[in-house]
Amino acid sequence: MKIFLDTADVDLVGKYHETGLIDGVTTNPTLIKKSGRDPEQVYKELTIIGVDDISMEIVTDDYYEFVKEGRRLREKFGDITTIKVPCTPQGLRACKILADEEIRVNVTLIFSAAQAILASKAGAAYVSPFVGRVDDNSFSGLDLIKQISDIYEKQSALYNPVSTQILSASIRDVGSVSASFEYGANVVTMPPSIFEKMYNHVLTDKGLDLFQKDWEAVNVLKI
Ligand code: G3P
Repeated sequence: MKIFLDTADVDLVGKYHETGLIDGVTTNPTLIKKSGRDPEQVYKELTIIGVDDISMEIVTDDYYEFVKEGRRLREKFGDITTIKVPCTPQGLRACKILADEEIRVNVTLIFSAAQAILASKAGAAYVSPFVGRVDDNSFSGLDLIKQISDIYEKQSALYNPVSTQILSASIRDVGSVSASFEYGANVVTMPPSIFEKMYNHVLTDKGLDLFQKDWEAVNVLKI
């Protein structure tokens, strides 16, 4: 059960990485643009913080450019590098080559089980189904997680173990985090604001409030 942060905000990653509960970070061109930073500077700073797994997206439409850039990033940043490619013929062709060289690949923009099957066959370390964006298009993102998980599980039981991990992405609420894990995701990547909300429950606050008051009363009795 791994938790990744879906952000290029290095300060926020630093803050939440201190919890000891963060297993990795995913970035994408939109998140990098939002940060206003140079992508490789972001990766470098995330490495310094101690992030173990950073998804770095490559933007091109040519398989060999994906491969070249993937090799270069892996060479530069070492084992923390996960190369992110889209689920396209060029992206999956590159995925196969990089995976054969033992470079971790995250196949992103997954919207169907068929895409997750192809990505797994291409040797992807992760597939990233976009739960929120599937929901935006009137079918269920969480059902997609379940379907991919069922397929991988069944194939693993019947034939060879499927090593591709399901990385549930495009998460917009805490309920989707729990449900993703319930439906078989290995990893959930989420905005820092959602991670923060995972701690919260109104009954925890209420219980804490009562304990605090009772503890103060105990201290008064001790005096
Ligand atoms: O990392 C990609 C994904 O999480 C994007 O999320 O909210 O832009 O659909 P969103």
